[in-house]
Amino acid sequence: MATNESCDQPLRDDSKKQIHSKFIQQELSAWKPILTPGWVIAIFIILGVVFILIGLLAFYASVHVEELVERYDVDCVPFTDKNKITKYIRDSSSNKTCTKTLRVQKKMKNPIYVYYQLHHFYQNHRRYVRSRSDKQLRSTKHEYETKECLPIATVNNNSKPIVPCGLIAWSLFNDTYQFSVNSKVVEVDRKDIAWKSDRDYKFGSKVYPKNFQSSGMIGGGKLNESIPLSKQEDLIVWMRTAAFSTFRKLYGQIKVDLDANSNITVVIQNNFNIYEFGGKKQLVLSTSNWSVGTNKFLGCAYLYVGGFSLVVAISFTITYVLKPRPLGDPAYLSWNKYPSIYEN
Ligand SMILES: *[C@@H]1O[C@H](CO)[C@@H](O)[C@H](O)[C@H]1NC(C)=O
Repeated sequence: MATNESCDQPLRDDSKKQIHSKFIQQELSAWKPILTPGWVIAIFIILGVVFILIGLLAFYASVHVEELVERYDVDCVPFTDKNKITKYIRDSSSNKTCTKTLRVQKKMKNPIYVYYQLHHFYQNHRRYVRSRSDKQLRSTKHEYETKECLPIATVNNNSKPIVPCGLIAWSLFNDTYQFSVNSKVVEVDRKDIAWKSDRDYKFGSKVYPKNFQSSGMIGGGKLNESIPLSKQEDLIVWMRTAAFSTFRKLYGQIKVDLDANSNITVVIQNNFNIYEFGGKKQLVLSTSNWSVGTNKFLGCAYLYVGGFSLVVAISFTITYVLKPRPLGDPAYLSWNKYPSIYEN
C-alpha cells in the first residue's frame, strides 16, 4: 500500500536526549512499608483506640443536648372542627390560637434554639425549587424579572410584579409562637436566624415587598412592606429550601436559661395549612453544642469503626500467636537486592 506522504514525518530523535533522571526512570525514593504482623496489629489497635475515644466524646456531647419536641397540628384544631379542617384552616376569621405546655426535664442553658419542624412538605420538588427569581430578590432593577416565578408572578393583568415572586416565597410559613414561664413572658430573639451571606448578598437591602399575597389564594405568611427583604429573616430562612420532606427551620432563639421541672407555656397561632396534604407540624426547643444535635449517629459511627478495628487487631494477634508463619527475608525484595539499576 502506498503511504501517505504527509504522514511521513521524520521521527523525532529522542533517543539521544534521554535523560537519566530518577523521575523519568521511576526511581524516586518512596516509602515501601513491609507490613509485618506486628505493624498491622499496632496500626489497628491505634485506629481502634483513637476512633473509640472520638466516638465516646461525640456520643457524650450529643447526649447532653436537651431537646423538647411537641407535635401540635392535631391538638390545635378545635374538636368541633375536626371533620371540616379545610374549612376551619382556610377561614381567616376562625380562631387559630392554641395553647400548649411543655415540661422542661433537665435544665436548658441559653441560647435555646426554637425550630418549627414540618413533615411531608416537599420543598425539594422541582417546580417548587425553581419558582423564584434570585435577581429580583437582589435588586430593584430586576423587579420585572418574574418569568421563572409562574404561577405566582404578577397581579393586575400582568402589569404589576409580585415581590418576592414565586411559589417558595408565596408559601411562607406563618405559624407564630409566644412563650411564657409562670406567666412571665420569655422573649424569643428573631434576629440573626438567617445566614449572613444570604442577608448580605442574596436579598437586597433596597428591595421591598410589593403586591405580596394580594390576590387569589393566600399561600402563607404576609410580609411587612416597609421592611426590606434583607431584614425579613423569616423569609430568608424559608427560602433556603430544605433538601428533605422532613425538615427543621430556625424560628428564633431564647436567650435565658430554662430551669429543670419548669413548665413553659406556648401560645401558638396555628395558621399554616399542612392538613390538605397530610403534613405534620412540630415545635422544637433545643440546646446545642459542637455535636450539632441529639443525633447519635456520628458518635455511633466512630464507635463501630473503632470497635471493628480492635476486633480485627485481636483476631490477628490470636492468629499470629497460635499459628505464626516465618516471614521472608526483606533483603531479597527486588528493590533491596538491586538498589538502583539505572544509577550512573
Ligand atoms: C397562613 O397561611 C395559610 C396557608 O397555609 C393561609 O391560608 C392563611 O390565610 C395564612 N394566615 C395568615 C394569618 O397569614
